[in-house]
Amino acid sequence: MNWNQRLAPDDISPWLGQALREGLLDDAKPSVLFHDLVGLRSRLKELHRVFPDGTLHAIAIKANPVVEVLRAVVEAGAGLEAASMEEVELALAAGCLPERLVFDSPAKSRSDIRRSLELGIYLNADNLEELERIGESSPELLAGAKVGIRINPAVGEGRIAATSTGGLRSRFGLAMPQDPEGIEAFAKRLASFEWLHGLHVHVGSQGCDLTTLVPAGERALTLARAIDAAAGERRIDTIDIGGGLPTRYRNEDVGIAPAEYVAAIRDAAPALLDYQLITEFGRSVQAPCGFAATRVEYVKELAGEPMAVGHLGADFALRVAYRGQDWWLDISVYSPNGEPKDLVDLRPMHVAGPLCFSGDFLARDRMLPAIEPGDILVFHDTGAYTMGMWSRHCSRGMPAVVGIEGDGTFRTLRERESARDMVRFWS
Ligand SMILES: Cc1ncc(COP(=O)(O)O)c(C=O)c1O
Repeated sequence: MNWNQRLAPDDISPWLGQALREGLLDDAKPSVLFHDLVGLRSRLKELHRVFPDGTLHAIAIKANPVVEVLRAVVEAGAGLEAASMEEVELALAAGCLPERLVFDSPAKSRSDIRRSLELGIYLNADNLEELERIGESSPELLAGAKVGIRINPAVGEGRIAATSTGGLRSRFGLAMPQDPEGIEAFAKRLASFEWLHGLHVHVGSQGCDLTTLVPAGERALTLARAIDAAAGERRIDTIDIGGGLPTRYRNEDVGIAPAEYVAAIRDAAPALLDYQLITEFGRSVQAPCGFAATRVEYVKELAGEPMAVGHLGADFALRVAYRGQDWWLDISVYSPNGEPKDLVDLRPMHVAGPLCFSGDFLARDRMLPAIEPGDILVFHDTGAYTMGMWSRHCSRGMPAVVGIEGDGTFRTLRERESARDMVRFWS
């Protein structure tokens, strides 16, 4: 498969036409979020193909928490990564076996820890205090515990500060010392937790590349060996290399295919591939499977420039609206029957959302064909960190999430939220 390939406007057009014919997108239902389940399965298959046999691909739930999407992930043989106890429950609801579930929250309470150990899920601790709390569990629970510790390998930040976690001042995990004496003392401390068998690194989400991802794994390998040496026996058998493979949001973005990642690990630190590996990819698996369609309600003039107002905005693409300098979504324009508009006579257009918030723009001065009321805007590569970050500002319900199956049929993965659902939400 071509991992870095994106869904093009022409790929989307037949699905849009079908959605219009089936009445999924109309005046009363002005937006739909689509997820290509065939694409999702082939991405998961590619992960399983290129990583060593037995690697647990625990797909990050936060990237797309829709239970039917998670179920598709589980049925394709992958596991799940949870960042909260609620995500643990989502994983179980999606049919994930506890032994295929990794729990990573940085703020686990004592009851979270107890429930995780009782369930038998894989727990990545964030700090020494958490390891000490785990150590207070009953000997029976500890005997079966699968525990790793997250370390900050301090390999440097990626392009986006807020989603980088490998800088010296990053807030997650234990900062790993850089010098040999420091590493030795650190390893000795960690070796004192006899039931600790895993190491975890995750250096960021979007904006990282192989120059940070691969050294993070190398640092984990160095520490694993130091812990084994300090313990005088093989202790660390599992290395969780986290997620962080970037997604191409524009054609000029450079993608990294999992095969390239594995080849780079094989070059730099082949011994890493001999460990029980866990990965936690989210964005790179889910984002390219999703696209979102919304009807243009109005086109009005803003200081002489045209502005299209649709039904998806900062509620749907929070980061694009609030941090436009870091985040971008490609937009395609279709006529009301789902035909892509010709890319001629392009003009700068503003694309605004529906919220009563003056910053609710998903694009400003974007070169687009003339947009008219009733046209349909498609936002590309929206399968990750959109539904999971849905904002309740102005209480607009989330549109239906529609899965696209192999024979081109649609399956509702999550019903559209109605006004009544909003009343229930806020009651
Ligand atoms: C601990 C952890 N693992 C995995 C991920 C998923 O990262 P990505 O979606 O970039 O692959 C994240 C995202 O922030 C994370 O915090």
